Amino acid sequence: MATRAVADIMSSPVVTAEATELLSDAATHMHEHKVGSVVVVDGGKPVGILTESDLVRLAAEGADANAKVGEWMTADPYTITSAVEVADAWNTLSERGYRHIPVVDDGELVGMVSMRDLVGIAQIAPMAHPSLVDAPKGLEGVVVAETTVGDVRGQEGFYHYRHYNAVELAGKRSLEDVWYLLFSGELPDATERKAFLDEVRPMAAIPDAVKPLLPDIAKAGEHPGPLDALRTAMSAVAQSLDLRPSMDTDAVTRRTDALRLCAVTPTLIMALHRLRNGLDPLEPSDDLGYSANYLYLLTGEVPDPDHARAVEQYQISTIDHGFNASTFTARVVTSTGADFGSAVVAALGSLSGPLHGGAPSRALDMLDAIGTPDKTEAWIRNAVEHGERIMGFGHRVYKTDDPRSLMLRDVAQRLGGDKAAFATQVEKTVVDVLAELKPGRHLYANVEFYAGVVMDRCGLPRELFTPTFASSRVIGWCANMLEQAADNRIVRPSARYVGPPPPQPVPDPE
Ligand SMILES: CC(C)(COP(=O)(O)OP(=O)(O)OC[C@H]1O[C@@H](n2cnc3c(N)ncnc32)[C@H](O)[C@@H]1OP(=O)(O)O)[C@@H](O)C(=O)NCCC(=O)NCCS
Repeated sequence: MATRAVADIMSSPVVTAEATELLSDAATHMHEHKVGSVVVVDGGKPVGILTESDLVRLAAEGADANAKVGEWMTADPYTITSAVEVADAWNTLSERGYRHIPVVDDGELVGMVSMRDLVGIAQIAPMAHPSLVDAPKGLEGVVVAETTVGDVRGQEGFYHYRHYNAVELAGKRSLEDVWYLLFSGELPDATERKAFLDEVRPMAAIPDAVKPLLPDIAKAGEHPGPLDALRTAMSAVAQSLDLRPSMDTDAVTRRTDALRLCAVTPTLIMALHRLRNGLDPLEPSDDLGYSANYLYLLTGEVPDPDHARAVEQYQISTIDHGFNASTFTARVVTSTGADFGSAVVAALGSLSGPLHGGAPSRALDMLDAIGTPDKTEAWIRNAVEHGERIMGFGHRVYKTDDPRSLMLRDVAQRLGGDKAAFATQVEKTVVDVLAELKPGRHLYANVEFYAGVVMDRCGLPRELFTPTFASSRVIGWCANMLEQAADNRIVRPSARYVGPPPPQPVPDPE
């Protein structure tokens, strides 16, 4: 590539001033010529430089109206010759912190080169930036925020919401209690619970403006992804609720916005599902708890309490889980000051990926594909040897049993049925085969493996598995969004550019 010299890009002739001139006259020259500095000359020879920063400094220090250029200029400025290569000129400017350098050949001022001239054309070598830190791919092990919402301790196989063990909460409390805990930091007493239920129940209704849009949304696409319709409908809900940018709202408004988005999610999921299957949506029941209502919205029948409780335990166990991809997404969008609807819609997109929330039906599909217990080992071996991932196994954070999978295995066994027994047998084989073929990776069943078995047993069809995950995870997203909005700084990391060195000359069109 041809190298270019300062002579090719410098500004010439140079705007100059005399040391004896009034500062105000020099400032006028700069303004008129739209330049950021003047070279101070004496008989054509450069003796100093006066820059915009000098003018700012003298304004701050209150120079008198008759001050002269010579009193405020930088004398004997650093200069370069016109033959210097632009890359070297760039290095000189950036290393020394100059923005302008006079160009002098044989003692005569011939031009001026500025940082701005160089940025456009130099093959600029990246400067060493001491504060840039390379994070590992996937940000594994990098702490990006402080939170009081909860945490996951992967090595110990433990996770918590606020200051309570999440699995214990799923064993002892209702989903609404845990929702309250996530939003307020404490579990509710009886009075608080009643007030909370009275507040959120009406919010479960789909806004009237959105209802007529749902049939088309539900039926769009021949093979929609697991969260496509919900994502689209959620966007319409957020718009119809006139949610304002989170940075323009107070904490009370943000809490109400978040409650509305959470409360409407189960109703939307089931309305879309029924419409896609040619059925009319149902209105939420005021008499049923969150998860019983969820199943009721699917069938129109009050569900078996064991099924409602099993789904509730699953939903509680998936409310939050540290800085997973969708939660991080929700926080990144919130950090821009956007409205909470935008953050939830973005998080839904993030959750839809098979490596995150889009896998539970795949785990059940795998059980179907294996077919019978005697075929398990050969099937798994073959899959792993062909480089495939066994769905429902492995986790970024847990390198031991996923506590959610242990809990859901108990729930599945409590509900009984052939699939639960088969899944238990498959789990054992997969763990053994992965330990042999992928030693040292510590691969165990994750939340998704038994989730499918439990949901299937409770009458939820496979296409609702990922939406059901979303139905409760939205609460975790919103708790994180509330925390982010309350103490915000926009998330804006850096990337290391590894393409061809810029700027290459832009070719003229052919
Ligand atoms: C969850 C998951 C994305 C975590 O990924 P991760 O932390 O980035 O782990 P990596 O992709 O670095 O995998 C580490 C190693 O374990 C292997 N591995 C991880 N999960 C595996 C699985 N389910 N089946 C087979 N091998 C697996 C990888 O092939 C890799 O092996 P290598 O070192 O030979 O390349 C990953 O385990 C996975 O894809 N699981 C299946 C999908 C799933 O269940 N998703 C739901 C998550 S809740």
